[in-house]
Amino acid sequence: MERMKKRDHKGEGGKATPSVLRVERRKQAFSVFGGAVEQAGDHESALALAQLLTPDPGLARALTHGFHSYAGRMHPFTARTAIARFSQPGQDVLDPFCGSGTVLVEAMAAGRKAAGSDASPLAVIIAQVRSTTLGPEGRARLVESARQIAEEAAERARKRQRPDIPQWAAREKDRFFPHVALELYGLRALIGETKEDDVGRALRAGLSSILVKFMRGSEEAEARRIGRGVPSHFFASRAEELARGLEALERRTPEGTLPPRIRVADARDLSPLAAAGFDLILSSPPYAGTYDYAEHHDVRFLWLGLPRANLDRVQVGARDEGLGSAAQRWLHDRRRWLSEMARVARRGAAVILQVGDGVVAGAPEDAAQAVEDEARRLGLVPVARVSQARPPHDYRLRQIFEGRPRREHIVLLRKES
Ligand SMILES: C[S@@+](CC[C@H](N)C(=O)[O-])C[C@H]1O[C@@H](n2cnc3c(N)ncnc32)[C@H](O)[C@@H]1O
Repeated sequence: MERMKKRDHKGEGGKATPSVLRVERRKQAFSVFGGAVEQAGDHESALALAQLLTPDPGLARALTHGFHSYAGRMHPFTARTAIARFSQPGQDVLDPFCGSGTVLVEAMAAGRKAAGSDASPLAVIIAQVRSTTLGPEGRARLVESARQIAEEAAERARKRQRPDIPQWAAREKDRFFPHVALELYGLRALIGETKEDDVGRALRAGLSSILVKFMRGSEEAEARRIGRGVPSHFFASRAEELARGLEALERRTPEGTLPPRIRVADARDLSPLAAAGFDLILSSPPYAGTYDYAEHHDVRFLWLGLPRANLDRVQVGARDEGLGSAAQRWLHDRRRWLSEMARVARRGAAVILQVGDGVVAGAPEDAAQAVEDEARRLGLVPVARVSQARPPHDYRLRQIFEGRPRREHIVLLRKES
């Protein structure tokens, strides 16, 4: 930011130019995130971006958004408002770091042709489940199967019947209290007997959605309130919540809208996608050296029997050991995924990225500045940005950012026309 201000004084500011964005600091009230927002670049666009940071808390669990927690999830309001403001019905919207699918659900509900991918097979399953509406019969089958499975699993747990313990489960005693683990194995075994169709996939994702809640260290576990039958009951109510969300999504989605195309893919190589196919790219890529999505979801990969080796290999930004090689890789990776976005964006398309300051080679990085500098070289012109302070919760990040603000940004780029 300092660097941008200095350039302004040299007379380059005043309005957005491809090379420099002017920064304004405005105090605004925010219902969820809170804090002042810095705006930079084209005034109108920056105002529109600032709206994305004023979420309506009522939307947090709207449609299927409350079904499965996910680290780094975009606020549904941010996705909804950006799609409405920066694309038209029927246009093509892409999220190549789709995570749990927030952008895809909102794009579908707004009648856009949505496509998304993620390097994590878990993310892809969650996103698919959240956007496959199943129809009235499928939803009824989901709720009924979950109810029957939950009843059976709870009954077995209350009778202290021991399910078969899978071989991989040896280390799970560290994660769960024994009676909780036994009940969850029971649930898992019964879910495993169901067909692997859309409903079966939703049941599997339902199991994934409840695991963390019942781990040692969670509020429930610490309060020792996990009675026998509680996890099963919770599983059944998750399925009901999902069915309600899917029904709301079906009602909201304009007739004739195709479901999102979602697949496992590395955002650094979107090669099956043709060039110039998207009118809006809306995404929240990982932050540098902040989250390891493979490690973070380890328990879910294990319980769902999903392979995580590929995600471990290709995920970007997972680690920063303060080593030059990790930093080089981060920079190289960012150039690759930005260049793929530039390739698949249509002329004049908006590319909107929610990015957060991260850690590169052991030091804080201004993520917005770095993205804009790189994007410009790839034919994506920086138009505007908004930034807001987000002090880190984590001790390591607090040490690294000591004395410097850590911010999240929403950056608007335009593909050159
Ligand atoms: C901040 S999260 C996205 C969250 C998403 N917007 C949501 O609302 O759930 C970043 C995602 O990037 C994914 N990711 C990391 N490296 C990737 C890569 N090389 N290609 C594609 N996805 C990747 C992670 O698995 C994670 O799901």
